[in-house]
Amino acid sequence: MEDSIKVYIENADDAFTELEIPLGIELSLMEVLKGEGYPIEATCDGMALCATCHIEVLEGFDKLHEESDEELDMLDSLPNLCDTSRLSCQLKIQPELDGLKIRIKGDADA
Ligand code: FES
Repeated sequence: MEDSIKVYIENADDAFTELEIPLGIELSLMEVLKGEGYPIEATCDGMALCATCHIEVLEGFDKLHEESDEELDMLDSLPNLCDTSRLSCQLKIQPELDGLKIRIKGDADA
């Protein structure tokens, strides 16, 4: 089994940045993205209450575990909700995230 996963983050110029993340760290995707300097405020600190960690999953959505009721409620409140929106704080770093392609939405970008 691989001991790391790769996630691809869309840049402003439509290219993707590859991020290699070790498995076994007790972090969410939000925490990793924030640590890498991406503009995620995470004002609720991962409690599924602020939606500033909103991402659109461009590839790999079907591999992810289902949203909790709390995550769905929060997503439903977003003006820029997409079919493949998730809260990155609710995605723990685990093998199902390998190969994921994402666009960071935050909560302001309509
Ligand atoms: S950090 Fe607040 S909802 Fe994800």
